[in-house]
Amino acid sequence: MSAAQALFERFITDVHAVWAQESDMGKRMERTRPLFEKLVREPAMQAESAHWPSTEGHKNLLLHTDAEYGFIINAVVRAPHRKGSVHDHSTAWVLYGLLAGTESLERYDRLDDGSKPDYAEVRLASVTTGGAGQVDLVPPYNIHAEQGGPDRSVALIFRSERLVGRVLQHGYNLADNSVIQRYGPTQIPYALGQDAPQAA
Ligand SMILES: [Fe+2]
Repeated sequence: MSAAQALFERFITDVHAVWAQESDMGKRMERTRPLFEKLVREPAMQAESAHWPSTEGHKNLLLHTDAEYGFIINAVVRAPHRKGSVHDHSTAWVLYGLLAGTESLERYDRLDDGSKPDYAEVRLASVTTGGAGQVDLVPPYNIHAEQGGPDRSVALIFRSERLVGRVLQHGYNLADNSVIQRYGPTQIPYALGQDAPQAA
């Protein structure tokens, strides 16, 4: 077992202990946050992410589906200067932690009352730029976008529940205020501890 795999499995064990004590999802996620911060700051995790494959094309690596509590752990590997779309994660809480590179998290305010279907007026409220070790907690229905930095970037994503194939999420088009419903990224099963690809 690689050092990263051991850290990852220890993290899941620690999350189980927290979730067993706490039933409120927001509190579970707040208490998961320091464990997740510790994980994404581990040099062995950051080093392992250096050879993860690109997820360009609306994909995520699927690292773990929790049989007991239903949470999901994904990774996203972005090309430099990746433009992220404005979206929400519907009912899921999400912890988003950078393992490599820099990214900016844009948060948006909703200005209309939500009474018109497929329509939303949103305005950029804040931008936080972070590097490896930075973690954000994104609540359900929070409208945001992740923007790539000048280099390849890798993030670990902890989702409180599985959405893909189950719950539609929203995409927001700022140019015409339209809202589309869509499923999240294509899930590519990926096991930690794989060897780095051999140079050709
Ligand atoms: Fe997101």
